[in-house]
Amino acid sequence: MKDYTAVIEAALERYIPKGEYKEHKLIDSVAYSLGLKGKRVRPSLTLAFAELCGGSVEEALPFACAVEMVHTYSLIHDDLPCMDDDDYRRGKPSNHKVYGENTAVLAGDALQSMAYAAMLSDEAIAAAGADRAARAACVLAQKSGLLGMVGGQDIDLSIEHKSVGIDTVRLMEEKKTANLIEAACMMGCIAAGADDARVKAAERYAHGIGLAFQIVDDILDVTSTAEELGKPIGSDADNDKNTFMSLLGMDRCREYVDELTAEAVEALSAFDGDTTSLAEFAVKLANRKK
Ligand code: IPE
Ligand code: IPE
Ligand code: MG
Ligand code: MG
Ligand code: MG
Repeated sequence: MKDYTAVIEAALERYIPKGEYKEHKLIDSVAYSLGLKGKRVRPSLTLAFAELCGGSVEEALPFACAVEMVHTYSLIHDDLPCMDDDDYRRGKPSNHKVYGENTAVLAGDALQSMAYAAMLSDEAIAAAGADRAARAACVLAQKSGLLGMVGGQDIDLSIEHKSVGIDTVRLMEEKKTANLIEAACMMGCIAAGADDARVKAAERYAHGIGLAFQIVDDILDVTSTAEELGKPIGSDADNDKNTFMSLLGMDRCREYVDELTAEAVEALSAFDGDTTSLAEFAVKLANRKK
């Protein structure tokens, strides 16, 4: 897939307030986590789907930034002592290790508000139109909220130290990870004015790559190194988490990842444009090492 990293990172930087503010420590903590080198998978997908649907990077950029802001907030909160209690993220000390727990909680809160301000700003509405901006913002709210990512995180934490079935683990991983990736892809289509059939197809693609993404994350937590991942390994075992790895083991996880990737690629047939790079991206994510 095209490398959108530079355009995304330049755009994210523009949302950080500049000048003298009383909240300077909080602003620094937001800038810290947003500026660290994440893979930028979600915003890149937003831009790729916008272009696939005949839209421009410019009209989709506020939505791409919004999904990365929500993702970054979820990582800051995920690392807190009351959640996964992890001290490293994106190759650096976690937000709460640098700025303290209360600031880290507030940085996550602030990033969530910043996401909606970005999508509903005059600039975003001038580029994409009010209807598209409102629809995209609603998708992000639903996919990241109570019945989406946040709900998934709640299931994740509530089943620590418990024995549960594979359906519960699948539901948890769909919600905590696939849902935000679904929002990323759907928002790209919506920003470009795509019809419902294409928005639905983007959701199906994202469901496949999104669930596979979390299963690979579960695998890497066992098989990788902290240096390569930029975050601690063994965190799932330390917290006695239920994951696809703990329930199915390596071989069945790999099979399931390949199955989900094939389903994702299949969903791309609903688009008229050239989907080769998105198909390749699905395979690349399935085989990622970090
Ligand atoms: C980590 O997401 C959290 C999961 C949902 C697995 P990423 O692996 O996309 O993290 P960054 O953005 O590259 O740091
Ligand atoms: C997190 O899942 C998903 C989020 C919504 C942040 P994990 O807890 O496995 O993510 P990592 O491994 O800490 O990145
Ligand atoms: Mg977690
Ligand atoms: Mg975690
Ligand atoms: Mg993990």
